[in-house]
Amino acid sequence: MTKYAETASRQGNDREWLAYRSGDLHVEDVPLSDVATAVQTPFYCYSADAIRSAYQCLAAALSPSEVSICFAVKANGNIAVLRLLSELGCGMDIVSGGELERALAAGVPASKIIFSGVGKTRAEIARALDVGIHQINVESAAEVAVVAEIARALGKRAPVALRVNPDVDAKTHAKITTATKESKFGIPIGDVADLYAEVAAMPELEALGIAVHIGSQIHDMAPYRRAFSAMADLVTSMRGRGLVVPRLDLGGGIGIASDDTVGPDIAEYAKIIAETVGYLGCELTVEPGRWLVGRAGLLVTELLYLKDIAGGTMGILDVGMNDLMRPALYDAHHPVLPLHEPRTAVAVPAYSLVGPICESSDKFGSYEGLGELRAGDLLAFDCAGAYGASMASTYNSRDLVAEVLVEGSLFRTIRRRQDIGEMLKLEQAGAWQVPARAGQGMAERASDGAVCTPMTVGAR
Ligand code: LLP
Repeated sequence: MTKYAETASRQGNDREWLAYRSGDLHVEDVPLSDVATAVQTPFYCYSADAIRSAYQCLAAALSPSEVSICFAVKANGNIAVLRLLSELGCGMDIVSGGELERALAAGVPASKIIFSGVGKTRAEIARALDVGIHQINVESAAEVAVVAEIARALGKRAPVALRVNPDVDAKTHAKITTATKESKFGIPIGDVADLYAEVAAMPELEALGIAVHIGSQIHDMAPYRRAFSAMADLVTSMRGRGLVVPRLDLGGGIGIASDDTVGPDIAEYAKIIAETVGYLGCELTVEPGRWLVGRAGLLVTELLYLKDIAGGTMGILDVGMNDLMRPALYDAHHPVLPLHEPRTAVAVPAYSLVGPICESSDKFGSYEGLGELRAGDLLAFDCAGAYGASMASTYNSRDLVAEVLVEGSLFRTIRRRQDIGEMLKLEQAGAWQVPARAGQGMAERASDGAVCTPMTVGAR
C-alpha cells in the first residue's frame, strides 16, 4: 500500500476532493486559483465534502460502541462549519460563552452541547444553564461550588460531569499535553470519587459522570489505552461506593497525518474505546476537533518576494503567524501545495517559507518539491482546517483572515476579512470616566492617610 493510500484508509479521508486537474489545484470541483481571484489572499478554504466524510468515517468507526460525537468548536468555530456538522447529527464541545453563542447561532440544540474548560466565568455558567446545556464538565472543587451557587440562584439543576486528570502523558507536543499531574486541567484522579459524592448529594447539581481529555494531535494510541483504562477503573470503584455514573466523556485529541506520518488509525482508536470502556454501559462521548476538520482545509497565500539568504532561497508570503500560528507555537509543519502544478521537473533547491510579521518565529519551514517559484505564485498550506482560522489574530494590524467553503462546483465566503477600518472603529475612544471609588474612597484616603478600602468590585 502506498503511504498516501495507507493514510487514506487510516484517516478515513481519501482526499479525492483535493486534486490537480489540467495543472490547477481543485477543491472539489472548484479551481482554487479562481477563488483566489475572487477572494483576496490569504484565505482559508474548506471542503464541505471532506468534513462530511471525516465525520461519517468517525461515526461509523465508533457506532458499535454507540459513542456520540461532540465537535470541539475551538478547532474551527465558523458557524457554517458548525452548521454542516450539526446537520450530520454532531453535537458540540465548547469552552467559552462565545463558543456557546456560535453553536447556538449555528442551530445546534443546547441539549447537544457540552461545556468544557478550566476557567468558566459566572456569566458563562449562568448562560449555559439558562439555555439548557447538556453537560458542564467541571474542573475543580471551587468550580463545583460556583456552579451550585448559580444553579440555586436560577432555580435550576446543573448537569455536571467531573473532568479527571488521570496523570497520563499523551506523548505529544508539550504545549498540547493536558493530563499530566502538573497540568492545570482536571481534578487529580484520586480526588474525583469524593468530590463526585459531594456533587451527587447537592440538590442543585445532577452528577452525570466523568470526563477526560489527555491532549491534542495524539499519534501514539498507547496513552489513550492507559487513560481510558484508568477511567474504567474509576467508574467501577465509584459504582462500588454506590455512586451512579451514567456518562463517560473521553475527550478529543486524535491526531491527523502530516507530511511525514501516515496518521493514527481510527479503527484502532475505536477498538481501544470498545475494549477499555465499552463494557461499562455508560453513555459514551468523544470530543474531536482536529480530526473532523484539520485535513479538510487549506490556507491560500501569495508569494510576495524571493530573497537569497545564507544557505538558500527564502520565499516571503502574504500569510503570517497571525493567520496560522501553529508553526510558531507548536513547531508544526504544514505541507504546501502550489496552486499550479510545479513547472519544472528538474530538482529545485528547498525554499524556506516565511511570513511578513516582524518576529523571527514567523516562519513555516523548509519546503522541497514546489518547483521553481516566482513572485506572484499562489501556494496553499495543507491540513490547516483546524486551529488555523480559529487561532488567527490581527497582530501587526493585519486583516483578520477570510474563510471560504467549497461545496461541489460552488464556493462561498463564510467569513469576510475584518479590515483595518473595522478595527479602528472598535478603538474610537469613549468619554473619560471618573473611577467609582474616586469619590468616597479618595476622600477617606485623604483624611486618614490610609490605603483606600476597596469599594464595590463589579460582578464579572
Ligand atoms: N476537548 C477538550 C476539553 C479540549 O481541550 C480539546 C482541545 C479538545 C476536546 C479537542 O482536541 P482535538 O481533537 O482537536 O485535538 N491549538 C492546538 C490544539 C489545542 C487543543 C486544545 N484542546 C494546535 O493547533 O495544535
